[in-house]
Amino acid sequence: MSKPFDFDIGRLTGSGNDFTRAAVVFPQKPETFTEAVGRGTFFLETFGCQMNDHDSEKVAGVLLARGYRQVETPEAAGLILYNTCSIREKAAQKVFSRLGEYRARQSEGKIIGVLGCLAQQEGEDIFERAPWVSLVCGSASYRKLPEMLAQLEAGNHRVTGLDTDTDETFETEMTRRDNPFRAYLTIIEGCDKACSYCVVPYTRGPERSRASDSILREVRQLAELGYSEIQLLGQTVNSYKDPTPRKMRFAKLLLAVADVPGIRRVRFTTSHPSDFTPDIVEAMETEPKVCEHVHLPVQSGSTKVLRAMQRTYTREEYLEKIAMIRGASRPIAITTDIIVGFPGETEADFEQTLSLLDEVKYDSLFSFKYSPRPNTPSLKMEDAIPEVEKGRRLAVLQDQQREIQKARHAKLIGETHEVLVSGRSRRENQWSGYTSSYRLANFSSAAQELLGTYVQVRVTGATPNSLVGEHVV
Ligand code: 5AD
Ligand code: SF4
Repeated sequence: MSKPFDFDIGRLTGSGNDFTRAAVVFPQKPETFTEAVGRGTFFLETFGCQMNDHDSEKVAGVLLARGYRQVETPEAAGLILYNTCSIREKAAQKVFSRLGEYRARQSEGKIIGVLGCLAQQEGEDIFERAPWVSLVCGSASYRKLPEMLAQLEAGNHRVTGLDTDTDETFETEMTRRDNPFRAYLTIIEGCDKACSYCVVPYTRGPERSRASDSILREVRQLAELGYSEIQLLGQTVNSYKDPTPRKMRFAKLLLAVADVPGIRRVRFTTSHPSDFTPDIVEAMETEPKVCEHVHLPVQSGSTKVLRAMQRTYTREEYLEKIAMIRGASRPIAITTDIIVGFPGETEADFEQTLSLLDEVKYDSLFSFKYSPRPNTPSLKMEDAIPEVEKGRRLAVLQDQQREIQKARHAKLIGETHEVLVSGRSRRENQWSGYTSSYRLANFSSAAQELLGTYVQVRVTGATPNSLVGEHVV
């Protein structure tokens, strides 16, 4: 699977068996429970997309505000939380094998909780398959976490939060952010699209947007804390609909975030092609702080397959959006997601995806073999593609994309780009960071300290997935 960049906003997954259950408590009270929670330490492991990563930052914030302390290992923790992904079968399988590893921990008196998409999808069945688990909480129920923690602290043994029938968003007083330079900020949760392969609408519930004034207030706080890059998050971030009377459009929100003193970069992901309107491109043209990168998943280059996927656009309509972005007065990098081997995808359909890649010349892409997921409409579709054939198509697609990226990166040699420095290599004088177009740049500099600063980097070489360069002082 190609994953050159780290912005897989993975959607979710899974299919819940009952989407409207509220928090339910089974009052059993083994002595070890209160004792374990009482220790007040937690270990939080996260799988999946950026939305999940950011949810974990918020969950950690809730726990810290409650007086818990975060520790680095499950051994040191009283409470072990596992934020799961179920977008594809492989991710879901991983969860149960990890839960198997955590089994022994319960006998040591630790509390084990499963959060996220697989929790939503499997619900209380998790207690059947892994009876050592005490908390099952889907991502649409995180608002109830303090209440659920109180129930655990009171000694309740099986606590669940599986409600997706909500119009609330998950906002916290305090989010513990992992990245000291780039702050992720959810502006829209859930998804109202109905792509036939996707569990997200079931696991994350219906689309709900956060109030624009609340978003801007948090951006101001983040700027005061020293964050200079903001990444707005949502499964379909550009479907944002301000619930306040201001009715601020997404493009205007981008400009308003960029306008906050101290903010130097604004990113957003993931965009849905059908809601990608010209005013977003205009905002990118007029405000250089809005980063020159759009992640615009196409999924397939064949209109027939797109229809079966219920993607709400044709190949031609998608290409019109690409032409609009390419027509901007600034160069804008475009990346995408592709699924190969969707039921009924013929060799001719697949070739249309390859030809789309040639036409668009993406800067990067994430590619996946179709994975049938519980309760999704495509689960029952006929003409399944054999796994071996899916694997072949994936390899062909990735080979072709590698060549495209090589050629695109080669053209950047000699240019100078601004990089937000976020990493330092163990090798002396080597640093790394991202360009506005979200290309990873590894570069040399004799400077003593660069982390968190913006520097100019001259590109001297390139690989398909990164740029190599030197600091221009
Ligand atoms: N099988 C394979 N890939 C999937 N994705 C979503 N659901 C599935 C599935 N059932 C991919 C899509 C989406 C990305 C986050 O994951 O390409 O854009
Ligand atoms: Fe899933 Fe489609 Fe929603 Fe994306 S837009 S999260 S692929 S249903």
